[in-house]
Amino acid sequence: MVRVPGKVNLQLSVGPKRADGYHDIATIFQAVSIYDDVRVTIKDPDISGAFDISISSEHPTAIPTDKSNLAYIAAAAMYEKFELSGSIEIKIDKKIPVAGGMAGGSADAAGVIVALDTLFSLGLSRDEMQEVGATIGSDVPFSIAGGTAVGTGRGERLTPALTRGQYSWVLATSSSGLSTPAIYNECDRLREGMSISTPHLSEALMQALSTADAKALGKALQNDLQAAACSIRPALRLILDVGMDYGALGGIVSGSGPTVAFLAGDEEHALDLVVALTSSGVVGNVLRASAPVVGATVIDR
Ligand code: C5P
Repeated sequence: MVRVPGKVNLQLSVGPKRADGYHDIATIFQAVSIYDDVRVTIKDPDISGAFDISISSEHPTAIPTDKSNLAYIAAAAMYEKFELSGSIEIKIDKKIPVAGGMAGGSADAAGVIVALDTLFSLGLSRDEMQEVGATIGSDVPFSIAGGTAVGTGRGERLTPALTRGQYSWVLATSSSGLSTPAIYNECDRLREGMSISTPHLSEALMQALSTADAKALGKALQNDLQAAACSIRPALRLILDVGMDYGALGGIVSGSGPTVAFLAGDEEHALDLVVALTSSGVVGNVLRASAPVVGATVIDR
């Protein structure tokens, strides 16, 4: 079984739309302690390339288990690239919010890549697995890498970030997700006619991370997609206000949303925030997480 973390983006700087429809970004990913577990087993060694996906989750999900699932796409890519054979069963135990801006789908793809590497004794390096991951989705390489990392290009080019300290996060999740392409489109629409600079990282944020200064980190959180997510889902503004009113060090929409991530000073502070957000009545569900944590990891064979 492979355990794969979700992520928050501490900063997400978005450049203009590229000719291929993607946006160049500069982002800082941090892996958080909310995980999907991905178990891959061989069903029939004589039937080739049949992938049977099932998903279990506490919350009802409408995730397709067909060829459109990122776990399926990852399995197909691995089978083709490494000429694998045999039918497999992919069981996903889902804890990362679906379409929540926390790379839940990417986590499942990452889990399949790492699981198949082990199952077929391919002996791939992390870099090689991340290379396959980049062909599946922009966030998949980070789901494999974990920790805290700078992402450039579409977000798929990673360099580890110099960070110290462990951070306490409180995540306000929503029961209905947001579409990443729709949020990028809304971002373009809101910025129409404006001159958009090349994506860049905040020095204040990098400095806060390298000195484990949670207060400074809270102040430096920044996401260019936040206005777009709030434009499409105005309730997110209210959630951000409630968290900040209750003393969060900082609050940010994670990735393309709708999860809102609040930074707490410590565990006790995080618990206070959970109680305040839960009783506010404006939040669907509240989770606690610590970060950074390691990326996709084989737990048992
Ligand atoms: O790479 P991924 O498949 O996760 O991206 C989903 C969609 O999000 C893309 O089709 C694109 O519309 C948008 N996107 C983008 N720029 C990025 C990453 C994603 O425009 N850097």
